[in-house]
Amino acid sequence: MQLLEGKVASSAIKEDLKNKISALASEGKKLPHLAAILVGNDPASQTYVNSKVKNCHEIGITSSLFRFDESISEKELLEKIIELNNQKDIDGILVQVPLPKHISEKKVTLAISPEKDVDGFHPVNIGNMVLGFPSFISATPFGILLMLEHYKIETEGKHVVVIGRSNNVGTPISILLSRNNKYGNATVTLCHSRTKNLQEICKQADIIIAAIGNPKFVTADMVKENAVVIDVGINRIKDETKKSGFALKGDVDFENVAPKTSFITPVPGGVGLMTIAALLMNTYQAATLHSQEGE
Ligand code: GUN
Repeated sequence: MQLLEGKVASSAIKEDLKNKISALASEGKKLPHLAAILVGNDPASQTYVNSKVKNCHEIGITSSLFRFDESISEKELLEKIIELNNQKDIDGILVQVPLPKHISEKKVTLAISPEKDVDGFHPVNIGNMVLGFPSFISATPFGILLMLEHYKIETEGKHVVVIGRSNNVGTPISILLSRNNKYGNATVTLCHSRTKNLQEICKQADIIIAAIGNPKFVTADMVKENAVVIDVGINRIKDETKKSGFALKGDVDFENVAPKTSFITPVPGGVGLMTIAALLMNTYQAATLHSQEGE
């Protein structure tokens, strides 16, 4: 069994981006600029956004964090997004979700200009991705592809079983892996809460992608010998022995599953770090596109 280490794979990507951005700086060109919006005080969202901002800083991407109280109205938030859409120096915009209940995530997603939608959540980007046209691919599925690429894990002809059909992970990764791409050409089965015989289907998988948000959901009896297991779950479990009061656990029963696998992602330290690298790549790509438009 070999660990698919997010730290190793994401460091390689970040180093490459850092060099490209420092070349821009030495040519006196504009640096990529990410605007991140955080509404409220959800601890997990704060951690994620802080980490995104910190990673931008590490590689030379300019970032602006806009924090709003939980009570901000939907109208005010949409106005802020439109302002950022119109601001020429901003290349990418992300609004951390979940949002408070009185704000429609759909309206927020639709408000972000597709050219600045570095989260790849806008229907224009999803549509382009499905058709294989250039698009921003959302951070988690893109991060999974980057992880597979870094560790040279072939997907062509493989049976991939994706567990979970969320808009941000399960659905896009199932499409990306089935397309006629370098990291595609797999036969993909997308499983969800109504799937019958889940264990039987998972047992046939060469690659399992678990994205259900349910700790230890994937157990050893569901996994074929030498399968590759990608764990997307980040579940916060109460743990008094930790300073923070919680531990992060994936969707896979790591202890019992890992010995059967050829490759497996740890949680934390796996896919999570790749999603940040993917966001940085999207922001760099957005800046490149905008600078070409300006020429
Ligand atoms: N919340 C959890 N994951 C994400 C993500 O990738 N982007 C945004 N904007 N919010 C999230």
